[in-house]
Amino acid sequence: MKEKLLKIFLEHEGEYVSGEKISQELGCSRTAVWKHIEELRKNGYKLDSAPRKGYRMVTKANGIHSHEIKQYLKTNYLGQELTYYDAIDSTQYAAHKLAQEGIGEGHVVIANEQTAGRGRLGRVWHSRSDTSISMSLILRPTLPPQKTPQITLLAAVAVVRAIKKNTGLTCEIKWPNDILLNGKKLVGILTEMQADPDLVHSVIVGIGLNVNQQKEDFGEDIEEIATSLSIAGGKTIDRARLIADILSEFEWLYEEYLSKGFSTIRPMWEAYSISVGTYIYARMIKDVIYGYAKGITDDGVLLVEDEHGKVHSIYSADIEI
Ligand code: BTN
Repeated sequence: MKEKLLKIFLEHEGEYVSGEKISQELGCSRTAVWKHIEELRKNGYKLDSAPRKGYRMVTKANGIHSHEIKQYLKTNYLGQELTYYDAIDSTQYAAHKLAQEGIGEGHVVIANEQTAGRGRLGRVWHSRSDTSISMSLILRPTLPPQKTPQITLLAAVAVVRAIKKNTGLTCEIKWPNDILLNGKKLVGILTEMQADPDLVHSVIVGIGLNVNQQKEDFGEDIEEIATSLSIAGGKTIDRARLIADILSEFEWLYEEYLSKGFSTIRPMWEAYSISVGTYIYARMIKDVIYGYAKGITDDGVLLVEDEHGKVHSIYSADIEI
């Protein structure tokens, strides 16, 4: 019901909609309409009411509950089933658990705040309440495990495209899956899987995005290296709409990938990438390689040619440009 009511206000942005019209569209009594309006107000929506005019939405709550995302969601299956948490340790853990219990492909776990968000290479990921996006997508592709890095690259393309569509801002991808804006980190992607040696059971794609944080919201340790869409674009972004856009972009790219293979994703990834066609440092646990990043393989491995002409295959590293 909440979803339908929000949709009505969305279709009449800034206008009054009469209680009569709402009750007809929802198929409920005027008293029930009033109760639903009160519910929305409790959820942080600012709604005006005027005699003989009806109701008007003044400000949106910028929440990311299932009904708020679904008013924009145009996917066939991705995110159609959502598990929402106000706060959770990590959406990655919750998604792994659901996947183990056999939940279907396309289920998404989303949280308004993470208290123990996880990054790549065992790092911490900060997900402040009300301002960030933290979500984990559960996929069940029929793939050998060595192909899953391709899904990470696909995820980065989906997020960059959705950000462009939603805000007009152009981001860059740093191999394998950091998304930067004006040289600072905006998005982190963590792809994990549950698999046998030769078959994937599930892939969990964790996406963390800085949306409406201001500079002072980042801790001292990261304020120089991190940014948000709001800092870069100077306005508040509707997180629910952005989530829906990411899921739409992801779903069509994923369908392309499953039917046609990685060859359709790779040129898009390369077009947004700042880490190929340039000289880079690849910092690994025990080694640093400096050289020319020639490109990526179909398995998502970065190829770096050193000064002696030797080509190194980089599977996991921090890249410095
Ligand atoms: C990185 O850049 O190191 C990856 C960060 C991934 C963060 C996301 S937020 C949603 C999901 N839950 C987590 O605990 N981590 C991922």
